[in-house]
Amino acid sequence: MAPPIPTLPPSTNDPHSYAGSSPVRVRHLILDLQVDFDKRRLAGSATWELANPEAADEVVLDTRELTIEAVDRLDAAGNATPAKFSLAAPDATLGQALRITLAPATTALRIRYRTAPTAAALQWLHPAQTAGTEPFLFTQSQAILARTWLPCQDSPGIRFTYEARVQVPNHLLALMSAENPQQRNLTGEYVFRMSQPVPAYLMALAVGNLEFAPLSNRTGIYAEPATLAAATYEFADLEAMVAAAEQLYGPYRWERYDLLVLPPSFPFGGMENPRLTFVTPTILAGDRSLTSLVAHELAHSWSGNLVTNGTWNDFWLNEGFTVYFERRIMEHLYGRQYADMLQVLGREALHHTIAEIGPASPDTHLRLALAGRDPDEGLTEIAYEKGCALLLTLEALIGRPRLDTFIKEYFARFSFQAMDTATFLSYLRTELLNKEPGLEDRLRLHDWVDGPGLPTNAPAVSSTRFEAVAQILTRLAGRHSPADWHADTSGWSSHEWVYFLNGLPPTLSAGQLRELDQAFAFTTSGNAEILAAWFPHTLRAGYDEAVPALENFLHHVGRRKFLVPLYRALLATPDGPAQARKIYAEARANYHSVATGTLDALIV
Ligand code: BES
Ligand code: ZN
Repeated sequence: MAPPIPTLPPSTNDPHSYAGSSPVRVRHLILDLQVDFDKRRLAGSATWELANPEAADEVVLDTRELTIEAVDRLDAAGNATPAKFSLAAPDATLGQALRITLAPATTALRIRYRTAPTAAALQWLHPAQTAGTEPFLFTQSQAILARTWLPCQDSPGIRFTYEARVQVPNHLLALMSAENPQQRNLTGEYVFRMSQPVPAYLMALAVGNLEFAPLSNRTGIYAEPATLAAATYEFADLEAMVAAAEQLYGPYRWERYDLLVLPPSFPFGGMENPRLTFVTPTILAGDRSLTSLVAHELAHSWSGNLVTNGTWNDFWLNEGFTVYFERRIMEHLYGRQYADMLQVLGREALHHTIAEIGPASPDTHLRLALAGRDPDEGLTEIAYEKGCALLLTLEALIGRPRLDTFIKEYFARFSFQAMDTATFLSYLRTELLNKEPGLEDRLRLHDWVDGPGLPTNAPAVSSTRFEAVAQILTRLAGRHSPADWHADTSGWSSHEWVYFLNGLPPTLSAGQLRELDQAFAFTTSGNAEILAAWFPHTLRAGYDEAVPALENFLHHVGRRKFLVPLYRALLATPDGPAQARKIYAEARANYHSVATGTLDALIV
């Protein structure tokens, strides 16, 4: 018999939550909110049912920028009495601990509160910032922003079920990370239920002029009417993705899987809100070429949402497994050659990130030390691509069948639980490494988890489809013009184009870029990945014809992954700083706080 694997207690010592200072845990939430677009605020109440096995006399919740109007204690009979509470001094990142005194009979608390117009999780959009003529609201709670829109125990190791009633203007639809309506009603009141326990960072709400289109009996798309047709075309393979994921690593545990396509200011590519992944419209390329992002968010339904990183120091357990899983889904659907392209682009991004952070930096370890910092700072490609590379190394050592069995059992065994790095390592040793002498040494597990950079035993990745691209890059380096390449690029996906653009020498003149642009129409591409790879070249070479398109992009797209490198490239040009300040001053209102938080520090 294998020795028992320790399971994490639901109270981890999370440096980014105040909740751990009391043993009382939340179990179930009843949320009752009014959404006020004019005042840009949510107001109402959060009723928390508690577990208090040690009969403690105080519970601690996380808040940031919330106004707490009143707190009542409830007993099992539902009697309410005002409770004593205090808000501690604010910390800019962590917010304020809300301490509430309990009585022996207290089973729940009702907190009446409202959010601030500046609440970091919320983005309130004017109609002009949407694809239609109505306002829009969405939340982004990961990593520690849930506390800016509801008082909660905002630690990924603490899970709860929830139900909600949300009142919105009566022509709009509300959606949550829960069982969702598929139609608007005339009252603007919507009710939600989430029966699987989730951590606070997976709480989500969106309100807008949204319509639904089914794709299969358990998948579908929500989008603004102007975007819905394009989105249903783009994501036609959604059901096939869910089926592939289930075949790989076990049943989908959340019943429905829907996508919500947001307006372009959404600060991320995607966010794995349970049952309802939020995605950026910048993956609507028209040719289904950017859907690996959906496979990624879907994979989080196992790695992340079922088995959840215990604290943000363990973020790689969410993202590294998810990137590996994402590429397995893509391979299953579109073949090895397709997935290989993703591996190569991912590995390039990893090398780039390691160079940027510094190859000796502790921030290149998989296990992070983020105490005292905004967890956002640690959330880099390291977790994603170094995490994935560790699993590829393991795959090369033990073979896919054994790795797949391990991963599938891992998800099953720790479903709806938190997992930290130490617990994972002990599980990995018990289940795999200790069964084969020398395996842990060959894996060099310690170097991966607590060492810097990319360990040299990472398997090389390569792509046959990119070999053709590399040949053309060589011809280009020989200074032939595109007309003389005799290259057939007609079958190229976004990935080949991005690889091509990333491989362009940094010495091309504006004239050479013009020639490329005339041949391939990069500047007028509707593909955001291609644009984001193209503009840095145009800036560096002073190819000014691309400037209007760049400005347009920066005004409309709020995805941080694109904005940061583009503003950086702009800042590095001679007139760049002034130009960047001007564009940013105009565009900033279109960005989510997650993006402005990073950009404010960059553009000064
Ligand atoms: N969960 C992340 C997004 C995230 C991470 C939000 C940390 C806040 C803090 C999501 O699954 C993700 O990784 N999105 C990526 C896309 C993916 C294909 C790499 C993104 O948004 O670019
Ligand atoms: Zn992710």
